[in-house]
Amino acid sequence: MNEDITYLENLISNRKVVRNYKNVEVDLEKLKNIAKFSVKIPTAGFSRGIEILQVTNKQIIKNIAKQFKEQEYIKKGMPKWISNSVSLFFILLNENAYHERYENPDKIKSINSKDWDIPYWYVDAGAAMMNCMLLIEEQKLQSGFMGLHNTSRNGVHEILDIPNTYKIVGMITAGIENSTEMSKKSNTKIKKKLTHYEQFGK
Ligand SMILES: Cc1cc2nc3c(=O)[nH]c(=O)nc-3n(C[C@H](O)[C@H](O)[C@H](O)COP(=O)(O)O)c2cc1C
Repeated sequence: MNEDITYLENLISNRKVVRNYKNVEVDLEKLKNIAKFSVKIPTAGFSRGIEILQVTNKQIIKNIAKQFKEQEYIKKGMPKWISNSVSLFFILLNENAYHERYENPDKIKSINSKDWDIPYWYVDAGAAMMNCMLLIEEQKLQSGFMGLHNTSRNGVHEILDIPNTYKIVGMITAGIENSTEMSKKSNTKIKKKLTHYEQFGK
């Protein structure tokens, strides 16, 4: 560990999205608190409309990989990712929890949650996602993120018995990186200014 930076700063700088896992077993004890602490997030109005579903059952993980058509990617030369995950974490959105909360007397004068210019449930989902990824990193595993924009949502709902009143925001994978030359982080990314101090652009 670099001594000049804190434990959390180190964890954050080491984390990267990894889409290539070894086929290994890990002690599931390492994973037992991840879902619980991932949802320890602030939520708009304390609506608590973000939930996490964790899957560690190998057969269910394989069934999920099929839904994401992993075999097609493997045939194209991509490495095994979802099916070699030791655990999957689904971020579930219960949007109604927000609308119900914002109908309460203390919120009734606020802008209606259906008219929010920023849908805060996605902010909250992102917070849970980052907690989850860092908790995975803390256990010396690597994480990835997969959206469902190219996947049959119904199929995943069916496998996991998720009610249709919930929307899956995304899936976080956890596994042990199968290091290859390809997976080494490229330093060729163009540096982009993403931080500003005191005034925009400074
Ligand atoms: C909201 C969101 C959606 C993403 N969706 C996908 C996805 O569907 N498939 C995928 O392979 N990577 C997905 N990614 C990962 C990004 O493509 C990219 O790998 C990541 O930003 C790199 O982060 P890193 O530099 O910290 O490793 C997603 C990331 C985020 C934050």
